[in-house]
Amino acid sequence: MKPMIKNKPINLAIVAAICGIAVTQFAYADLPTAFTNIGSIVNTRHNLNQGPLYQVVGQSVNPMNVGRNNYGEVCVYCHTPHGANQANGLVAPLWNRTIRVTNYQTYNELGTTTLTQDVLSTPGSASLTCLSCHDGQTAMDSIINMPGSGRGLVTQATTQDLTFLNSWNNGDVAPGSADTTNHMGFNSGYAPPPPGYRLGVGDGSDGVGCMTCHSEVGLVKTILGGNFADFRMANLGTDLRNDHPIGITFPAPPGSPSPDWNTPAGVKGASNFFDENSNGRMEKGEIRTYEGRVECASCHDPHGVPSAGVGTQFNPTFLRKSQSAGGVGSAVCLTCHVK
Ligand code: HEC
Ligand code: HEC
Ligand code: HEC
Ligand code: HEC
Ligand code: HEC
Repeated sequence: MKPMIKNKPINLAIVAAICGIAVTQFAYADLPTAFTNIGSIVNTRHNLNQGPLYQVVGQSVNPMNVGRNNYGEVCVYCHTPHGANQANGLVAPLWNRTIRVTNYQTYNELGTTTLTQDVLSTPGSASLTCLSCHDGQTAMDSIINMPGSGRGLVTQATTQDLTFLNSWNNGDVAPGSADTTNHMGFNSGYAPPPPGYRLGVGDGSDGVGCMTCHSEVGLVKTILGGNFADFRMANLGTDLRNDHPIGITFPAPPGSPSPDWNTPAGVKGASNFFDENSNGRMEKGEIRTYEGRVECASCHDPHGVPSAGVGTQFNPTFLRKSQSAGGVGSAVCLTCHVK
């Protein structure tokens, strides 16, 4: 077990020590992002090493090392070449992350009278992948197979094992000593910090995590008055009633025109896609369905999609298509909806 920060009541000296790393970065905090969003996922917020970030600000210590294992690789936070997650029928490309069995509140439970399509009680695989970080329940570093041989744990497919995660050392303590890395997720109390507030364990049991710093009223921010990128919008939680429906049937498969819906022309396996360039291939810039349903990855590509060809900046917020594509505001929405 790890001692130190975990389970310890708030100690300003510790917070200050942790944040000493961060203080010098305040100058960058007004920037929306320190990443270029060009060329590769490496240069986006989906690079969980945040490597380019501290290169840009000339840091010797990665400020995020306090909150998650730094595996020194980019893809590994989501993918593994072997032993991928297939628990509970998950169909996702070589998925390395923990996916908890979760009772989501889905959009249909909101009860709008206008909704016509059926919704899966558990979202499809192409949403569960995203939710493994964005529902806030699971630590960013909770994976099945860590880099190196013999460093996997099969039960990680559905449960987050802190002893296992603690076996990784970010390199900031001597070999053999206890690693002090916390395993944080988005599951943060960003409400005013309660007494005994501490940096979290990231398994949802304490409600504290990345938002300790990355929110308007994060503890560290309150104490230091600093600016941090605010991640609260990215923490969807498990109540999805206030999010665009996912796991929902797309009512207009190819060949069935509808006055309310555009019809995707492309077919690839169980996916239909809006074949924007009519080349018959499903490409990353093309909005699609999965098993006939709308999922997170229908609209987003987590690796980023260049806005205007190779080498250009990615569309904002990992969208497959820019809202301003074709000079139309809301181009993403109007791809599916006839409105
Ligand atoms: C001790 C405070 C602290 C904690 C905890 C923390 N961060 Fe950060 N983070 C920072 C600082 C400081 C920066 C640089 C300023 C900024 O961009 O917000 C930063 C920047 C980032 C950025 C880049 C923002 C951008 O686009 O420029 C990402 C992504 C990020 N953090 C992710 C995380 C994740 C994920 C966690 C939880 C596992 C986490 N951070 C926990 C302090 C923290
Ligand atoms: C933040 C999580 C995340 C990271 C990091 C990540 N991926 Fe992915 N990747 C995904 C998800 C989610 C999908 C499934 C997308 C879908 O449902 O269509 C995927 C799909 C893929 C696919 C197959 C489908 C496609 O879109 O081409 C490949 C290949 C792939 N990733 C390669 C990589 C490589 C190589 C890296 C590292 C450079 C990487 N990914 C990093 C989340 C990630
Ligand atoms: C390994 C954890 C992880 C996975 C898996 C993941 N994300 Fe993220 N995502 C993050 C972090 C960390 C951030 C930075 C927080 C922010 O930007 O507010 C982020 C940011 C985002 C953003 C905002 C980017 C911006 O520029 O503000 C979007 C959109 C997003 N993710 C969508 C997705 C989708 C869709 C998927 C699945 C296809 C996904 N993510 C999978 C961790 C993850
Ligand atoms: C129907 C299309 C669609 C679906 C499905 C969808 N999104 Fe989004 N998402 C968007 C659009 C469009 C934006 C940009 C909104 C904006 O610019 O304010 C966005 C923004 C985001 C952001 C950034 C929020 C912010 O303002 O910082 C995150 C994170 C995100 N989506 C994650 C997800 C996840 C996770 C899922 C699945 C649970 C999902 N999205 C499903 C269209 C979609
Ligand atoms: C991939 C196709 C797709 C995209 C892109 C898309 N939607 Fe949807 N949307 C759907 C489907 C399918 C439904 C469910 C409709 C139903 O059941 O009648 C839906 C439902 C909705 C609803 C709720 C309807 C209700 O009756 O409660 C709203 C509002 C909505 N979408 C707005 C948007 C907006 C705004 C955007 C762009 C940010 C967007 N959609 C992008 C497919 C899409």
